[in-house]
Amino acid sequence: MKIAVFGAGYVGLVTGACFADLGHDVVVRDILPDRIESLRRGEVPIYEPGLDELLQRGRERLTFTTEVAQAIDGADIVYVAVGTPPTYSGDADLSAVWMVIDELPRVDRRIVVVMKSTVPVGTGEKVRHRLDERRMTDVGYVSNPEFTAEGTAVRDFLHPDRIVIGAFEDADGELVERLHAGIDAPVVRADVASAEMIKLAANAALMTRISFINEIANVCEATGADVVKVAEGIGLDRRIGPSFLRAGIGFGGSCFPKDSLALKQLAANSGYHFQLLNAVIEVNELQKRRVIGKLTERLDRLRGTTVALLGLAFKPDTDDTRESPALVLAGRLIAEGASVRLWDPVATADGLPGVTQVKSVSEALAGADAAVLVTEWPELREADWAAMCSTMRRPVFIDGRNMLDPAEMRRLGYVYDAIGRAAS
Ligand code: UDX
Repeated sequence: MKIAVFGAGYVGLVTGACFADLGHDVVVRDILPDRIESLRRGEVPIYEPGLDELLQRGRERLTFTTEVAQAIDGADIVYVAVGTPPTYSGDADLSAVWMVIDELPRVDRRIVVVMKSTVPVGTGEKVRHRLDERRMTDVGYVSNPEFTAEGTAVRDFLHPDRIVIGAFEDADGELVERLHAGIDAPVVRADVASAEMIKLAANAALMTRISFINEIANVCEATGADVVKVAEGIGLDRRIGPSFLRAGIGFGGSCFPKDSLALKQLAANSGYHFQLLNAVIEVNELQKRRVIGKLTERLDRLRGTTVALLGLAFKPDTDDTRESPALVLAGRLIAEGASVRLWDPVATADGLPGVTQVKSVSEALAGADAAVLVTEWPELREADWAAMCSTMRRPVFIDGRNMLDPAEMRRLGYVYDAIGRAAS
């Protein structure tokens, strides 16, 4: 089939590249000429493992354009994969979605618009209405939310736990299901509103688990239990399962913070106060700041100290810093009068006032009063901690991801603390 993908961000590029890999002809359209130009040159504007190779492999079947007419020419399917960032009110900003819908030209055959962007429940109805108003009744609408995580997006797309398809017309749903031929996964067929809610509810469930384990971690700290053991012990219960039970310094990224706010406002707009979700968001905000308390306890005061932050990306294997706990930590530390030295193997801190980015972990630690492990980059597991301890002014080490072995770090001389594990 021929697919037009609107939006060349993380979601659009992964969607386009994966459909090309499944044998479809794909045109990716974006409004940013620079982005399209670099994609045509074979340069991938984002860091996503496996995406380069996939775009390379599918280059015969992939084209990039800024022109709507070129994208739609001969297309059977129009995927919408544009950004839906939060507005001041916390609602999702759908202006980019409306731009795509309003730009769609009238064509003399049936095409199906498929929503991949994360949108509030009810968006499908509104789009349907807008299309009908323009008498574009021959344009179908399907919700096909994405569940891909950054860093594993290609694998998540090609080997998903499930494919969710919500359609107004069965035939349109079937068409979208056929598009995925070659992917071995259960398909959940639903009405449009339920498909939209599945996406928001799945994210909310995952965030709830993270805030839950973070609160358990905080109680572990107060009572002398070890959250890593506790997570192992509860995760083996088949009803609970082991994933998303890693305690740490809170969730960030382009999806969770934005989507939790959008769901909260969606509920509020309908007159419902979503108490549990509010608590999940608040716990996460506090969790990001708890490390400041730990540092103050160890250093007495932060003014005049140098703190090394190890990691800037909101999680490993991405250069994405959106809503990263590192940004909150850096901001708080600078406000308290500390200097921040930051290391990340991929993400850059351009434009972060008061933050010096260094090229190696050893450079970050040398002369520092404390170090905080913020992102669990694999290279930190292999780092030569023994050699670096004596280079610090004070060997205070806060492991914000419970990545390293507490006993070993203490044996090496660090004043080591983590999240939800008994302090030394
Ligand atoms: C998430 C969802 O996983 C994905 O299905 C959705 O489509 C988009 O949002 P992503 O934001 O890329 O994907 O990353 P994910 O791996 O889910 O991690 C999100 C955040 O939660 C990260 O900051 C991570 O560090 C944190 N996290 C995750 C924890 O703190 N503990 C955990 O146990 C798991």
